[in-house]
Amino acid sequence: MKKETDILSFDYLVIGSGLAGLSAALKLAESGTVAVVSKREVQESNTKYAQGGIACVIDNKDTFEEHISDTINAGGTLCDKTIVRKIVENGPDAIYKLIQYGAKFTTRGDMGEVGPHKDDFDLGREGGHTKRRVLHAGDITGEEIEHTLVESCKTEKNIKIFEYHIAVDLITSEHLGWDSKNYALGAYVLDIKNNKIKTYISSATIVATGGAGKVYLYSSNPDVSCGGGIAMCYRANVPIANMEFYQFHPTILFHPEVKSFLISEAVRGEGAVLKRRDKNDRLISFMDNYHELASLAPRDVVARAIDNEMKKNGDDCVFLDIRNKDEEFLKKRFPNIFAKCLEYGINMAKDLIPVVPAAHYSCGGVKTDINGFTGINGLYALGECASTGLHGANRLASNSLLEALVTANSAAIDIIEKSKNIKENKLSGKIPEWSCGDATNSDELVVIAHNWDEIRHFMWDYVGIVRTTKRLERAKTRIKNIRKEIEKYYWDFLITPDLIELRNIASVAEIIIDSAISRKESRGLHFNSDYPKTDTKLNQIDTVIVLNTKYNH
Ligand code: SIN
Repeated sequence: MKKETDILSFDYLVIGSGLAGLSAALKLAESGTVAVVSKREVQESNTKYAQGGIACVIDNKDTFEEHISDTINAGGTLCDKTIVRKIVENGPDAIYKLIQYGAKFTTRGDMGEVGPHKDDFDLGREGGHTKRRVLHAGDITGEEIEHTLVESCKTEKNIKIFEYHIAVDLITSEHLGWDSKNYALGAYVLDIKNNKIKTYISSATIVATGGAGKVYLYSSNPDVSCGGGIAMCYRANVPIANMEFYQFHPTILFHPEVKSFLISEAVRGEGAVLKRRDKNDRLISFMDNYHELASLAPRDVVARAIDNEMKKNGDDCVFLDIRNKDEEFLKKRFPNIFAKCLEYGINMAKDLIPVVPAAHYSCGGVKTDINGFTGINGLYALGECASTGLHGANRLASNSLLEALVTANSAAIDIIEKSKNIKENKLSGKIPEWSCGDATNSDELVVIAHNWDEIRHFMWDYVGIVRTTKRLERAKTRIKNIRKEIEKYYWDFLITPDLIELRNIASVAEIIIDSAISRKESRGLHFNSDYPKTDTKLNQIDTVIVLNTKYNH
């Protein structure tokens, strides 16, 4: 690795290039220069893979109160009601801003309707929603949004995008020993193609790195989802909340040649029913035994029900049955899913779709307020890596894009306002260059790959949909050993993207395990069969994990 460090100064630094990061960048660009750092190509983010859409009260037959109540019913007593209200009520304005940038959502006319309502948005339904309120762009909503924002950012002269740049650590005044009042100064970032560490200096830093699905063996997430933002904030001493609530999506396509392909919950919203085969090969729908909303029950209930049916009956998968809809409708409403299934010999209009649950969304994350503020001056976390209090113990489907959009806007406003005061006192000393070991030992690279695999396997087996205290304790022992090993390699060997991601994944795994161990009850997405019932005494208590030893770089 080259030792020299580039130093780059911007007014604002955004780490992550999904909906939260890019929409914040666009707003911040009205007031100053913005660096957007992206691990791969700028469009590669969790946002791009969102299929369902954005939940928002657009229809005049729907109300804010109903959306608020559905959110709280799904998330249980851990939702912060003030935050839920703010995000739901700010939804329509945020959506219109996205439309102004150029995002196009499917209308009823697009679905073949003629007449006075043809220009109204076609609204989808998903689990836990009592109304149709999900705006979508076919079944590639995320791609449409991501594309729109990327194009807008590319034409904005105040925004510079750095692709193939992966953040290593945040820089704070506390970690430099500068000041008793902690504030963020930027980040050390590895320029992957040139193999050198750059120092980004900024008056405010936004962490918008998405989720951490890769911590589990099976996930709907793209490879970039390694929990980098959560791990970096943790190392910078920001509290991390509610990480035991990892959401498992009930329906990922089960096929030996397909990795991580989601069958959107919107398919159930259009009438698909979950079924399994009995001993005599008869198809049985089973969700009525678990919830009054059957296949459209909240996600925690559906994922646990599928897990239970598969384990009880020794099945490899269950099935989605949407053969009650005709082919033309399915092609129009789910063009991407229809085409993908067909590629693997499944015609949704004629065949059952084999599905299994997989890790999908982190409901916990970096603890923030409605503006994404972390409590450290100049440091913000947005989108999936943040925990505002909206999701509580279980996220309502399609609420996450809404949260990212609303909080990105309020974060940018807050940052611009506060930056006016903190700009002058920021750089009261010289920021040291990044230093690390420079040993290389290709024999030892196998350790990195092995540790990756080991974490993802035991997280799936011991910290998955249904947990026990004994299995959580086992996972804790293993992660402690791996973390020790990683810290050794981290300091002795050259930094590579794999090592950075492994270090982050290991931290996030440990935080999930610690959070799960400390919750002595079953609630929402956290189900521990040693505590089958929610303990009402623990009502309203978030799990908060804070770094106990200061990080030492
Ligand atoms: C889906 O389309 O099922 C995913 C939507 C979400 O996770 O909110």
